[in-house]
Amino acid sequence: MRVIKVKSRIRDYEVVFGRFDLFLNEIGKGGKDSVFYVIDEKVWGLYKNSRFKRLDACQVKLVKADEFKKTLKTVMDLYDALIERSAKKNIVLVSVGGGIIQDVSGFLASTMYRGIKWIYAPTTLLAQADSCIGGKTSLNYKSYKNLVGTFYPPHRVIVDSSFIDTQENLDFYSGVGEIVKLHLMWKEKYLNAILKFLPEAARRNKKAILKAICNSLLVKKAYIEDDEFDQGKRNLLNYGHCFGHALEKVSSFKIPHGQAVVAGMMLANIVSRARGLLSCRLEDRLFRELLLPVLFVKPKRYLLKPQDIIAAMKKDKKRVGRKLPLIIMKEGINPDKINDLEEKEARLALRELSGRI
Ligand SMILES: NC(=O)c1ccc[n+]([C@@H]2O[C@H](COP(=O)([O-])OP(=O)(O)OC[C@H]3O[C@@H](n4cnc5c(N)ncnc54)[C@H](O)[C@@H]3O)[C@@H](O)[C@H]2O)c1
Ligand SMILES: [Zn+2]
Repeated sequence: MRVIKVKSRIRDYEVVFGRFDLFLNEIGKGGKDSVFYVIDEKVWGLYKNSRFKRLDACQVKLVKADEFKKTLKTVMDLYDALIERSAKKNIVLVSVGGGIIQDVSGFLASTMYRGIKWIYAPTTLLAQADSCIGGKTSLNYKSYKNLVGTFYPPHRVIVDSSFIDTQENLDFYSGVGEIVKLHLMWKEKYLNAILKFLPEAARRNKKAILKAICNSLLVKKAYIEDDEFDQGKRNLLNYGHCFGHALEKVSSFKIPHGQAVVAGMMLANIVSRARGLLSCRLEDRLFRELLLPVLFVKPKRYLLKPQDIIAAMKKDKKRVGRKLPLIIMKEGINPDKINDLEEKEARLALRELSGRI
């Protein structure tokens, strides 16, 4: 069994690759009162008669994976469910689902009794390859994405990559977007690996997907172990996210996170090229060979309207001061942060991208 160990100042934890049903058998031995499950409603529907068969309905609370449900209200409903079951501090929370379920249940685990034991089984490619480590829990607040949150890593992560078999293409390619980003974070070393992965991803080749998940987690591990609380180097993982978060929001979350990140990387590269920090050749190569092939939904022109995107970027919680921050990619595949993106540069990049996709 493959295991990736992650060091954290809160607690060290392990990502264990294995079969989810075997894990359920093991944890079920503790008795029904000791475990509480928060499961993605759709995932429950898909697997209730197979891998979830042994679960008792009274131990399970279903949550819809919807950005508009990633709120304090949903967490409060879960507090109530735990109180109703007279759950004590030693209850184990097991959550099963993608990044939305992770964010909601991670927040729940970190705040209920100031922290309960939490095991997370990610069921989307994005969550398996990226979000399951790093310890961030986030909730949306009013019109602000991920405004409220805590740092609280799971005690254990169980990755059963066969969950991905049932993912819809749009969500699958959202995960591919984050995988591409993480491979680029490892500089030129992983560029060829990720280019080779693209046709395998299109075929949904299981072995190649598992390898891409492991590589992505190892890259992220290197960043988060160095800067767990996002004070410096970890910021670079936000490549593609500055424009990406704005696009997600302007589309009312119809463009999923990882897909918005792909468009965000394209835009960041255009800015970098315009500043003379990335050659035309490399920008064009990244665009044609890597990013365009994984852009499953091409954002409609009206979604790239500069005034809307820039207004949304101005609301981003990571902004300090008047100008906009942006993670860019420099020549040689070197990520870097600029803090002085001008609105005019953002406008030009958005106009150029509209004409190219
Ligand atoms: N906490 C973090 O560090 C972190 C990092 C990255 C992203 N995120 C957050 O993660 C969220 C995106 O998460 P996501 O892309 O994993 O997906 P998701 O949770 O938004 O789910 C996407 C869709 O896939 C469905 N689904 C989940 N598993 C499935 C399966 N096995 N088969 C079929 N359908 C399945 C869900 O029901 C939903 O319809 C965003 O809110 C983003 O902000 C958090
Ligand atoms: Zn992301």
